[in-house]
Amino acid sequence: MVLSSNCSSSSPSKRIGPDSVDPAKSSKLLESVPRSNYTDVLNEFHPPKPGWYEELFAFVLNTATKSYEAEVARYKSEIFSSLRDKAQKIVEIGIGTGPNLSYYASNPDVEVVGIDPNQKMEKYARSSAESAGLPPSNFEFIHAVGEVIPLDDASVDAVVGTLVLCSVKDVSMTIQEIKRVLRPGGLYVFVEHVGAKEGKVLKFIQKILDPLQQTLADGCHLCRDTEGYISEAGFSRVELNTASLKKATFVNPHIYGVAYK
Ligand SMILES: C[S@@+](CC[C@H](N)C(=O)[O-])C[C@H]1O[C@@H](n2cnc3c(N)ncnc32)[C@H](O)[C@@H]1O
Repeated sequence: MVLSSNCSSSSPSKRIGPDSVDPAKSSKLLESVPRSNYTDVLNEFHPPKPGWYEELFAFVLNTATKSYEAEVARYKSEIFSSLRDKAQKIVEIGIGTGPNLSYYASNPDVEVVGIDPNQKMEKYARSSAESAGLPPSNFEFIHAVGEVIPLDDASVDAVVGTLVLCSVKDVSMTIQEIKRVLRPGGLYVFVEHVGAKEGKVLKFIQKILDPLQQTLADGCHLCRDTEGYISEAGFSRVELNTASLKKATFVNPHIYGVAYK
């Protein structure tokens, strides 16, 4: 699979190219990979980057997103409230520095598995977990990717993912993995930035900036039709809303919501 730099290929209806699902490959990976060692998978879906790049990206994410987080808080509060009393075991894909933990991890009975291919995120995520009041024994950080989640089928009550489907290498495969690990009735809570509508000036700008964004922001795509991927993934119900965030400038619009398995 090759990382796309072409905005126009990022649509779920065009199941060719880098974002396409190859079910045979997906299931082969799941069968062949020992649960204790995901290194090969990790390297395939998130090829190793220099340590300084990963450190810098983690540092920037931890320090430069405060005003964005303040603006997105009203939407996050809304969707994370749906986890209350419904989710004890939660996996967050692409947890990054852990900005969501304060929304759902205050209940001491909650167990959280955060997965991220960037090992340098771990110290920030652990610190966020501590600030959220989560006992260390209830938080696990796994160095892994969303395309092959190292958890059993139907093993979690909820999956959380914010600003991550823009960065995974294979969107369809990641969403199928989300569905696989969710128990029946489980919730997928998401916030994602997506590509602007075709014909808008913003889309024109996104197409120009997309290759640069991927280089600077660890594979983040500006133009993906993530809404289409989630809506067509076969969840029993999808509650999806759209918002435009001032602080996110050209990284807009955003979609946020809850999908139910
Ligand atoms: C823009 S950051 C968002 C982090 C965090 N979720 C947030 O809302 O601040 C994207 C995150 O996705 C992670 N990531 C990149 N590729 C991934 C993959 N294939 N699977 C899971 N996470 C991935 C990155 O390491 C990074 O932590």
